[in-house]
Parts: sequence; C-alpha cells; structure tokens
Amino acid sequence: MNISKAEYARRRQRLIESLDGNSLAIVPAAREQLRSRDTYFPFRQDSDFFYLTGFDEPESMLVLVPGRAQGETLLFCRERDAEKEMWDGPRLGPERAAEHCGLCDAFPIGDLDDILPGLLEGRDFIYYTMGRFPQLDRRLQGYLQAIEQAPGGASAAGGRAPEMVSLDPHLHDLRLFKSAAEIRLMARAAEISAEGHRRAMQRCRPGMYEYQLEAELLHSFALAGAREPAYPSIVGGGRNALVMHYIANNAALKNGDLVLIDAGCEYRGYASDITRTFPVNGRFSGPQRAVYEIVLASQLAAIDKIAVGNDWDQPHLASVEVIVRGLKDLGLLQGDLHGLIESGAYRRFYMHRVGHWLGMDVHDVGDYKVYGQWRQLEAGMTMTVEPGIYIAAEDAGVPEKFRGIGIRIEDDVALNKDGPQVLSAAAPKTIADIEYLMREGDLVQEALL
Ligand code: GLY
Ligand code: MN
Ligand code: MN
Repeated sequence: MNISKAEYARRRQRLIESLDGNSLAIVPAAREQLRSRDTYFPFRQDSDFFYLTGFDEPESMLVLVPGRAQGETLLFCRERDAEKEMWDGPRLGPERAAEHCGLCDAFPIGDLDDILPGLLEGRDFIYYTMGRFPQLDRRLQGYLQAIEQAPGGASAAGGRAPEMVSLDPHLHDLRLFKSAAEIRLMARAAEISAEGHRRAMQRCRPGMYEYQLEAELLHSFALAGAREPAYPSIVGGGRNALVMHYIANNAALKNGDLVLIDAGCEYRGYASDITRTFPVNGRFSGPQRAVYEIVLASQLAAIDKIAVGNDWDQPHLASVEVIVRGLKDLGLLQGDLHGLIESGAYRRFYMHRVGHWLGMDVHDVGDYKVYGQWRQLEAGMTMTVEPGIYIAAEDAGVPEKFRGIGIRIEDDVALNKDGPQVLSAAAPKTIADIEYLMREGDLVQEALL
C-alpha cells in the first residue's frame, strides 16, 4: 500500500497544466530543525514537496518548468558523500534520485546558483510561496535583482525579472482532493489510531499519569508501523480537557473524572486525528452521560450532512443546532433556539468549528470558501468532524454537577460519491461500547495479575 510512481507523475502533470506556459515553479524540501545544540528533531519532509516527489531527503528542491512538451521536472538534491553517509545514512544522489522519482533530471543542490538563475530568465512568472523558507526567499530575490540589474535588463524588452506569485492556490487545490490510494493510506492511519484509542481505554486506571496513557497510544502506533504521531497528543483528565491545545499531559488521572484523548498517528505521510472522551474509572456518571449524549448526537448529525453538493458550513450548523437544543434541555442555555444560535451565545460552551480538512497535514490545505461562499463538498474531500462541549470549572451560571466537564468526539471522514465513510469507526464512541470495552480491559488486567 503506497503512492505509485505513476501517481506522483500525474500530480506533477496536473500541477504543470494549471500553470502559465512561460513560468517556473519552485517547491523546496523541509529544512532540518535543531532541537538542542547539535541534535536535530526527527526529519519530517515538507508535505507539498513530498506530495510531488515522494523524496524524503532534506536540502532538496523541485523545479517544474511548464511549456516544453509535457513540461520539465527537475530535482536539486545532495550529492553522494561516502564520509557523510557513513555517519548519517545513505543518500540517493542526483542520478539515482531522478530515476527513483521519475523526474526528467537532477542536479547537485550545490549547483543551484549556477543553474537556477538561467532558468528564471525570460519567464513571466515564478510560482513560489514566500515566507516559509526565509533563506531561500532571500536567495531568490537576489537572483531576481541580478536579472533586473543585468546590462540590457529591466529596460530592455523582454528582460524583465519574472513576477513572483504564490504556488499555494494551484497545489493546494490538488491536494484537497484525495485519490483512492490516498484514501486507503488515510483509512489505515485512522485504523491504527483507533486501535491506539482502544488500547488506551482498556489500560486506563485512576492514578495513572496522562503521559502514561499517551505512551499506550504511541506504543500502539509504532507497533502497527506508524512511528510518529501526526501532532502532539492531547491527553487531558478532568478540567485539563477544557484547554483546547493541552499537551503538558503531566497530571494524574482522577477516579470520577473523564479523560479526553485527541491523538492520531501519521502513516506514510498521511495524518489521522481522533478524539475520544471516556471515564477514567470506566463508568460515566449521570451528568457526564447527559453531556456526552449531546456531543455524540451532534457529531452524528454533522456526519449526516457530509454529502456531495452540501456546503462546508452545513455539518457545522447541524452540530450547533443539536448542541444548543441539548444545552437548553439541560438548562445550561435559556432562550429561543434560533436566537441562541444567531447571537452565538452557545460559544461559551462550543467555541470551535466542527472540523477541518485532513490529509498529509493534520489541518490540511485547501480553501474553505470560494469567492466568499462556503465551498461545496465533493467526492475525494477528507475532513474531521469534532464537536465538543466544554463547561468551565468556575462557571457559576451552571449547576455544579456539570462544571469542569469537557467532551469532544472526533472522527475522520472521507466523502465518497455514495456518501461519508467514517475512517476511524473502529474507535468506540457510544457510551455502551466504551463501557463494555473498558470492562473487558479490567478483565484482561485481572487475568494478568
Ligand atoms: N488535533 C488537532 C485538532 O483536532 O484539530
Ligand atoms: Mn484532534
Ligand atoms: Mn482535528
């Protein structure tokens, strides 16, 4: 299960076809990031670059030149180096990299200054996304200035430096629509993550630290072939669940509290993003149950609105309506349903939108609006659905039994032409299924003692 060489070639071809004929596109690889002194973070390739090449080395750059026949595809990358390879591992080197990636040609990255300026000359546009790689930004601006200042340059007809325009709208519109192979990888990512959530539910015990529960997930991901999480895992017991981006994960889990886990693995370049909220001791209390059922109903209502032809806002609106009704029924909101929705009063308890695109990046690329209108949903789009209710521990306007409860339920959904496919369905989310699995976990744990 992988992206084929032919699919990478199709992606480049489609991108080239969307560009001006007399132009050039530049897509840099990620840079290695220092962690401390001379130690680096594990390298993670840039999603745009990897989408177009499948090439996993730093210090590389893809250059696409439309116009000539089917367009030219050029790679700049590190040269072979026996000494460096002995310390840091093998490099493909330009010759093998071109063949490996199915590109027209490849050159040493050290030759960039000699080759790229010549390719830029005479072009009308350079497609390049400024602001992400400041060193390269400066280098390219230097090349353009040199073209402007060359004798017979700016003033001579046709000697203008090309205009720099963003590549993002072209490339990200392609990335938004997933192929069958991509959806298979994303389904596997979600399946691995769902297994991690199941393991966490079964192993959870009062007194454990949040990071120990995190370790259960990471263990499960790595054993299944997904070594890295797609984003820092959130494991928040009790009121820690109210901190949207809680990643400290260093508190002890208390009997009687809920724990919210938002964690997903990255599998072969594709993210999963799953949230489950469950009782630390395996049994929901009455108030926890009441709030949980609202969030679950809201999530199911939102998934139901993921259909070809609906727009991006419809799932969100469906989730809001169920949450507002539910909070009214519990007495946490008072007033007219539509008034509460219009005024945004519900945001005191539900302060984020229902989801985001999902793909190579956890918050994946692609516009949510087109010409100011919410985007129509189409087959091949993949997204999360993750409503939540968060009740502040100090909210004196709420009965005490509800204070400090934070619940989110998040699934990964691919929209097929027949409707939504929940990729993360293997992670239990009904109260009955969660309590059953956790009881089963108790029995396994007892049998081991
Ligand atoms: N895990 C980040 C998010 O749910 O958007
Ligand atoms: Mn999440
Ligand atoms: Mn998410």
